[in-house]
Amino acid sequence: MSQESTSTARKTKRKTKKNFINIIDVSKKYSLGEVMVKALDSVTVSIHRGEIVSIVGPSGSGKTTLLNLIGALDYLDSGTITVDGQELNKLSDRELSFVRRETIGYVFQNFNLLEELNAEKNIEIPLILSKKPKEERKIRVEELLGAVGLLERRNHKPDQLSGGEQQRVAIARALANDPEIILADEPTGNLDSSTGKRILDLLIDLSKEHKKTLIYVTHSNDQAILAQRQLVMNDGTIIEDLSKE
Ligand SMILES: Nc1ncnc2c1ncn2[C@@H]1O[C@H](COP(=O)(O)OP(=O)(O)O)[C@@H](O)[C@H]1O
Ligand SMILES: [Mg+2]
Repeated sequence: MSQESTSTARKTKRKTKKNFINIIDVSKKYSLGEVMVKALDSVTVSIHRGEIVSIVGPSGSGKTTLLNLIGALDYLDSGTITVDGQELNKLSDRELSFVRRETIGYVFQNFNLLEELNAEKNIEIPLILSKKPKEERKIRVEELLGAVGLLERRNHKPDQLSGGEQQRVAIARALANDPEIILADEPTGNLDSSTGKRILDLLIDLSKEHKKTLIYVTHSNDQAILAQRQLVMNDGTIIEDLSKE
């Protein structure tokens, strides 16, 4: 294990397809009052550019923590995470916001849409934050609405959309700035199983079509096996790393 991580560390310098996301010996603890919880315990794993990866494991096994650290939404205690040649723990707050805005698209279980904005405005938010000109935003939103099959629902607010439709809006929003990586934490957790299957199929198809690296968490084995690679977590560690080929 330690030999493997050392050799992985040596290869991180160049921007290659392999080791696009490089996680080396990462640990993260949370303290709840007196109690210390080891959410991640020396996790080492590399993910290639364009790979489709599922993460499974019991509740509390560290799946969300791992995804949040890769997504620069939280800070690690020790170890390193390199994303596309950039070591996250060495970046300034400004550089981290850039990564969050341009390099990564997030999809959450509860959609996280702004209730007062309609579908197209929700999708436009990342483009506004990236200061894209108005005309370019308009064209891009149109493209994204088409890609997720929501052209007819563009003026609907979240409470006028079904769960599946809301998640389609969230997927379009995640893709808006054409990020390299899509992170999805139980994206189908609030959907019935047939809607969930359709949403995950869409997420995987769009990721493949646009050559994204997709990492998603799921509780469903049927959904987990759709990925090229499955990481199985338990107690803050990856206990299995299963590739299809
Ligand atoms: N903000 C937090 N404060 C305290 N403990 C946390 C926090 N986030 C996660 N944990 C704990 O860390 C462990 C891993 O949590 P998490 O990554 O959310 O697991 P999963 O997504 O696999 O259910 C759990 O024991 C959880 O209770
Ligand atoms: Mg979780």
